[in-house]
Amino acid sequence: MTNVAVIYYSSTGNIHAMAEAAARAAEKAGADQVRLLKVAELAPAAAVESNPAWAEHAAATADVAEASTADLEWADVVLFGTPTRFGLPAAQLKQFIDTTGGLWSQGRLVNKVVSSFTSTATGHGGQESTLLALNNTFYHWGAIIVPPGFADPVQFDPANGNPYGASSVSGYAPRNVADANLAAVEFQTRRAVEIAAALRRGLLNT
Ligand SMILES: Cc1cc2nc3c(=O)[nH]c(=O)nc-3n(C[C@H](O)[C@H](O)[C@H](O)COP(=O)(O)O)c2cc1C
Repeated sequence: MTNVAVIYYSSTGNIHAMAEAAARAAEKAGADQVRLLKVAELAPAAAVESNPAWAEHAAATADVAEASTADLEWADVVLFGTPTRFGLPAAQLKQFIDTTGGLWSQGRLVNKVVSSFTSTATGHGGQESTLLALNNTFYHWGAIIVPPGFADPVQFDPANGNPYGASSVSGYAPRNVADANLAAVEFQTRRAVEIAAALRRGLLNT
């Protein structure tokens, strides 16, 4: 029994496209249940409306459920997606993470299998720093970080090659994710689901 939550923030659809790919991949990988969940928007409506691509994406994803700490408790595997914001995860995702104090204090996040992906405008815009910043939280949780590494041929594609987590380069365009990056998310998700299943079997046998 493997429950997978894909929890993401996206302004203009790049991370949303990757999150959808992750959710599809989790189902394909044999997860029992999969939830695709966005985190709450924190930006004022005026800011969202000032950018047509942002407003369009917000409207198009209005029916995506918002993540709660109950989803984290439910999940065995959590894939986190965030665009890079000045080399860091988006505040919206960080705000959600900062609601997990209760679960953390009860040890309820220990052994969650986690992995994360990002999108930047430029190739050197801070993909690794974003993913490493998320990992800081996962260490505190006692979660099991499952990076893609170079554990599959797809990772050797020059468009990927990010062992920290799938990372797309949008060039500032909305929903502009290369197929190679979607393939990387798919592999990363499959690996996380397989490791979670193996961990579960191992823990049950001890
Ligand atoms: C406030 C802000 C900060 C950003 N900081 C970076 C950055 O440090 N490096 C980068 O390459 N892109 C940066 N970007 C661009 C986004 O990360 C990039 O466009 C991403 O693909 C957007 O993903 P989304 O479509 O899912 O929102 C920034 C965008 C905004 C609005």
